[in-house]
Amino acid sequence: MSQPTIESILQEKRLFQPPAAFSQSAHIKSLADYQRLYEKAKADPQTFWAELAETELDWFQKWDAVLDWQPPFAKWFVNGKLNISHNCLDRHLTTWRRNKAALIWEGEPGDSRTFTYAQLHREVCQFANALKHLGVQKGDRVGIYMPMIPEAAIAMLACARIGAAHTVVFGGFSAEALRDRLIDGQVKVVVTADGGWRKDAIVPLKDQVDKALADGSVPSVSATLVVKRTGQGVLMQGDRDYWWHELQSQVSANCPAEPMDSEDLLFILYTSGSTGKPKGVVHTTGGYNLYTHITTKWIFDLQDTDVYWCTADVGWITGHSYIVYGPLSNGATTVMYEGAPRASNPGCFWDVIEKHGVNVFYTAPTAIRAFIKMGNEHPNARDLSSLRLLGTVGEPINPESWIWYQQVIGGGRCPIVDTWWQTETGGIMITALPGAIPTKPGSATLPFPGILADVIDLEGHSVGANEGGYLAVRYPWPGMMRTIYGDPDRFRRTYWEHIPPQDGQYIYFAGDGARRDEDGYYWIMGRVDDVINVAGHRLGTMEIESALVSHPSVAEAAVVGKPDELKGQDIVAFVTLEGTYSPSDELLRELKQHVVQEIGAIARPGEIRFADALPKTRSGKIMRRLLRDLASGVEISGDTSTLEDRSVLEKLREG
Ligand code: PRX
Repeated sequence: MSQPTIESILQEKRLFQPPAAFSQSAHIKSLADYQRLYEKAKADPQTFWAELAETELDWFQKWDAVLDWQPPFAKWFVNGKLNISHNCLDRHLTTWRRNKAALIWEGEPGDSRTFTYAQLHREVCQFANALKHLGVQKGDRVGIYMPMIPEAAIAMLACARIGAAHTVVFGGFSAEALRDRLIDGQVKVVVTADGGWRKDAIVPLKDQVDKALADGSVPSVSATLVVKRTGQGVLMQGDRDYWWHELQSQVSANCPAEPMDSEDLLFILYTSGSTGKPKGVVHTTGGYNLYTHITTKWIFDLQDTDVYWCTADVGWITGHSYIVYGPLSNGATTVMYEGAPRASNPGCFWDVIEKHGVNVFYTAPTAIRAFIKMGNEHPNARDLSSLRLLGTVGEPINPESWIWYQQVIGGGRCPIVDTWWQTETGGIMITALPGAIPTKPGSATLPFPGILADVIDLEGHSVGANEGGYLAVRYPWPGMMRTIYGDPDRFRRTYWEHIPPQDGQYIYFAGDGARRDEDGYYWIMGRVDDVINVAGHRLGTMEIESALVSHPSVAEAAVVGKPDELKGQDIVAFVTLEGTYSPSDELLRELKQHVVQEIGAIARPGEIRFADALPKTRSGKIMRRLLRDLASGVEISGDTSTLEDRSVLEKLREG
C-alpha cells in the first residue's frame, strides 16, 4: 500500500464561516451545537440513533434492541418492522405534502415531468403490482439497468415496497459487466428501457440486456420489463419481454407496503475493489433508511420549501442515497436530470438550476472541473440566485475548484459541504454541517455525529495531527454495509482485518489515506489500494487488467492511475504481448475498445503502453508503484532493490 501525499492542500489555510443568515434557520445552527451532538452520540451511540429512529421514521413495529454487534456483522434495530417506500411516500400523503412535488425530472432533450407525492405513490404501487405480475416476490432480486428517467426511481421504490431487493447496474456498464452482476445477484427480473439519452446519443440499453441474457446465460432471469423512453426499435422476445406501459394499464394502483424486518435486504450495489471481481455491497432496510434520512436532513439542511438537486446517476450509491431514499424520506422535492455535462450544451446544469429554482445543489468535482474549462460565461448568463447551499462528492476537490464553485456558482454566499463517504458506508460520513462547521477548501472537515472516525496506522493507533495515515471508523453506524453478497469472508478480510482486531475491537478500514490537521479537520488523500477514481467513478485496476488479458494478444497487463487535470485520475495500462503479436496503433485502438466492451466506456484506458516486460519482484509480483511513477512522468521514488531485473525499468523509461 502506498502512503498518501497531496502537497498542494497542505498549504491551504483559508477558513470560511457559515453565513450568519444561513445558520439562523439551519437545522444545526452552530459549532457548539454540532459539538454537543457529536459528544452526545460518542458517549452513547445507541441511544443517539434510537432517539432519531423514533422521531424521524415510521415503524410498523418497534425494535427490541438498537444494535446487535457480532463483529464484523451488525444488526440495527433488531426485530423492528418498517418499509422504506412507506417512509418515502405513504407517510407524506396524510400531510400537506401530498400535493407537493416529490420528483422533478428533466430529460436531456429538454422534456420534463413532475410527480407529486400522491402521483409518485400511485406510480410506485402500479410498478410494484407489475413486478408481482411477473412473479417477483419478497426476497427476490430485481436488476435495474436504466437511463436517468423517473421510472428508475419508481422501480427502486416498487422493489422496496414489496420486499424485493434491487440491484441497480449503471447504464454505462457493458453487456458483459451487466451479465456478471445479474449472475452474482441471481436476479429474477430485469427492468430496463429501450434506450436513454447520453451526450446527444441514444444508449441502446435493451440491446445490451439482450446481449447479457443471450443463450440463457443468466438462467435466473425469467422476464424483463421495458420502459419506452427513446422510441427506437427493439426486439421484444414474446415469452420474456414486457412493455411497462402495456402492463401498467392492466395492474391496480393499490399495493400496501410490505412490513419488512430492519435487517431485510434492501439492495445490492456492485462496486470495485482491489481484486478482479466487483463486490456486491449489501444494505438492509432500517439502518439505511435512518442514516440516509438524517444525513440528508442535516447536511443538506433541507427545508420544506427547498428544491434539491443531486446530479449523480442512480446507478451509483450517491443516486440511491441522495436522489431517491434520503430526500424522499424527508418529504423533499428532488430533481433528477438525464443529461451529462457536454460540449453541445455547456450551460446544461445551470439551465436546470434556473428553470427549477434549485436551492441545494450536490455534484462531483469532476463535473465542476469540466464546467470551469467550459468558461464562466455559461453560469454567468443564468440566474443562479436561488442557490443557497452547494455540495461535492466522489473525489478530493482541489482548492482552486472549490473557490470557483463558491464564487462563480454560489455567488460567494453559499456554504459548501465536501462530503466523504463510500458505497460501503451507505451515507455521508465526514462533512461540514453547513450552518455549523466552518469550511476549509479541500477538506471534508469533521465526522457526522455518531461516526467515530479516526486516522490510524496499520496497528490501529491514532496518528498525530498532520501525520498521514489510514481513514478508519471505530464503531458501527446504522448505514454501514452488512456484508458482501454471498461472500462474508471477503467482507471480513477486506474491511475489518487490515487492522488486526485487538481486544475484540474491530475497526472499519476504508481504503483511503487521510490526514487530520491541528483543528481535527480531515483531508482525504485518495485510495491506498488498487482502486482508482476516474472522473468520480471507482474502478479496480485488476478488473481492467483482467479485461485486457482476456484479449488474445495480451500476455500480461498492469494498470495504474495517473493524475489528470479533468478526471482526477486517468487509466494507464502497461501491456506485454503474446509472441505472435506486435505493437501497432490498430492493436492499441482494438485493446481500448476491448476494455469498453468488457466493462464499459468509463474504463477506457487513456493510454496503453506496450512493453517487452513488466517490472517484478523476485517473487514475481508486478511493482505497480514504479509503474505509477513512470505513468505520471515523475522520478521513480522509493526502494527498487527488490526488482528482479533492473533493465526492465530502464527499457520502460526509454520507451
Ligand atoms: O476514495 C474515496 C472517494 O470515493 C471513494 C468511494 O467511492 P464510491 O464507493 O464509488 O462512492 C462515491 C460516492 C460516495 C472513497 O473511498 N471519495 C468519495 N468522496 C470523497 C472522496 N474522496 C475525497 N473527498 C470526498 N469528498
